[in-house]
Amino acid sequence: PPPNIANETAKLFHVNDVKDWDLLRASLIKFNNSSLEIPLVINGNRIYSKDNRDVYLQRNPANHQQVLAEVTQSTAQDVQDAITASMNVKKSWYTTPFYHRAAIFLKAADLISTKYRYDMLASCILGQGKTVQQAEIDCITEISDFLRFNVKYASELYSQQPTESSAGTWNSVEYRPLEGFVYAVSPFNFTAIAGNLTAAPALMGNTVVWKPSKYATLSNYLLYTVLEEAGLPPGVINFVPGDPELVTKEVVQHTDFNALHYTGSTKVFKSLNFQIQKNLTEDKYKNYPRIVGETGGKNFHLVHNTANIPNAIFNTIRGAFEYQGQKCSAASRLYLPESVSNEFLTNMIGILNESNSKFKPVNTSASALNGGDLHGFIGPVIHERSYDKLVNVIETAKNDPSLEILCGGKYDKSKGWFISPTVIKCNDPSHRFLKEEFFGPVLTVYEYPDDQFVELCKDIEKTSTYGLTGSIFARDRKIIEQASDLLRFSAGNFYINDKCTGAVVAQQWFGGSRMSGTNDKSGSGNILNRFVNIRNIKENF
Ligand code: ALA
Repeated sequence: PPPNIANETAKLFHVNDVKDWDLLRASLIKFNNSSLEIPLVINGNRIYSKDNRDVYLQRNPANHQQVLAEVTQSTAQDVQDAITASMNVKKSWYTTPFYHRAAIFLKAADLISTKYRYDMLASCILGQGKTVQQAEIDCITEISDFLRFNVKYASELYSQQPTESSAGTWNSVEYRPLEGFVYAVSPFNFTAIAGNLTAAPALMGNTVVWKPSKYATLSNYLLYTVLEEAGLPPGVINFVPGDPELVTKEVVQHTDFNALHYTGSTKVFKSLNFQIQKNLTEDKYKNYPRIVGETGGKNFHLVHNTANIPNAIFNTIRGAFEYQGQKCSAASRLYLPESVSNEFLTNMIGILNESNSKFKPVNTSASALNGGDLHGFIGPVIHERSYDKLVNVIETAKNDPSLEILCGGKYDKSKGWFISPTVIKCNDPSHRFLKEEFFGPVLTVYEYPDDQFVELCKDIEKTSTYGLTGSIFARDRKIIEQASDLLRFSAGNFYINDKCTGAVVAQQWFGGSRMSGTNDKSGSGNILNRFVNIRNIKENF
């Protein structure tokens, strides 16, 4: 049957409160009251830490004393077993008719948005420090969008055939999965991305070895169990949490390693590329591995003096501080024309400082769960390393004469990893605060002379190491066109009068280039091309 396409994420951006709070409370209480034991799943078999494996404790970043899950860690042999399982099951999986494979992912999308909705939300809220709205966007709507739209895109791809033939020949192409297996490495910040990194190749008939982020294992394991309940056969996706270096080393030295589907830090992606290239030159592989990666960004909001200022402020607050700035797409540098800078900053900082009710952390304490308020805008950052790095950024700003903290700059780790939304003014356009990714709720602002707009665009384009997202705020059409023309590779997702976060599957194809990734565009059909091996067949008759 045709896939049931509903762009859930798009709907959510217009609806703020669609939750059944009692059901959400029940799921939060369930996870609050128990520490789940999370196994490896290899060929459908569950392996627990009691079977001589190490264990990692996944904690609630809003309350670091609270252990949410005891995660079994893979050994080198486990990873090898996962690879063997994925290779053994390959043929039966790719010979399964496409519409059977597709039905599994469509059913999973439905299970996520119905039966498991509140468990998915609770696992992301508690495990990854999400607010209720951010959890909805991520682990319900965006995941189900990915799962459903990929089916649509795959149907379109499979229907493409060579249209030219000469007399007496019959031409066709066959879309096979890759010959080897796919290695999916998923990040902590979006469970939806984990869903796409694993499900997109699997839909195309591939089998997958999946290393989830240790900071998101709770929601990721839940996702795995949903896929299983939807009918995913054993061995198609093998779930191997563990030490990243150990798992990666085992995977990328294997002769059947055929693709990396990665989202995470630029540093780790570079190191993976290095290992893969080295193995390639040593003739370790049967195939050239396909490398599909999405990494970091230093994303900009560029405001022109013709902009609608309230709109630019609202979108900057959302783009910079939602999910504590921990989206690869988050706005982390803001360019303001001198003529509107005062008005802009006074209003934005007023909003940021104003309200405890809007900016308080999501409260999942017992009192909130017993009927209190679950709304909130700001949660914790993900872990101590990130917290320490951001504290260092704030302390550096206090001591650097080219930097001035305009608001925020507070931090508190007594219970969770909390950093207040921080705005830092910088008077040097080449300062590292306008170049380095901090991955937290820190926005650096630079004021430019109004008549230097074109030079500024050229400078951003020339000096940006990353190329993920960016926004121009202007009402003047000529200015918009000029910025769009000049800022060609510094933003693979370019927004006009909107925040630079929140790409909606199928609507804004997501991914940049330069040091931000391979530009393969999740949420589009393009990415599926990377996970097929095409055979052309010519027959004379
Ligand atoms: N795709 C996510 C966004 O656009 C990262 O915010």
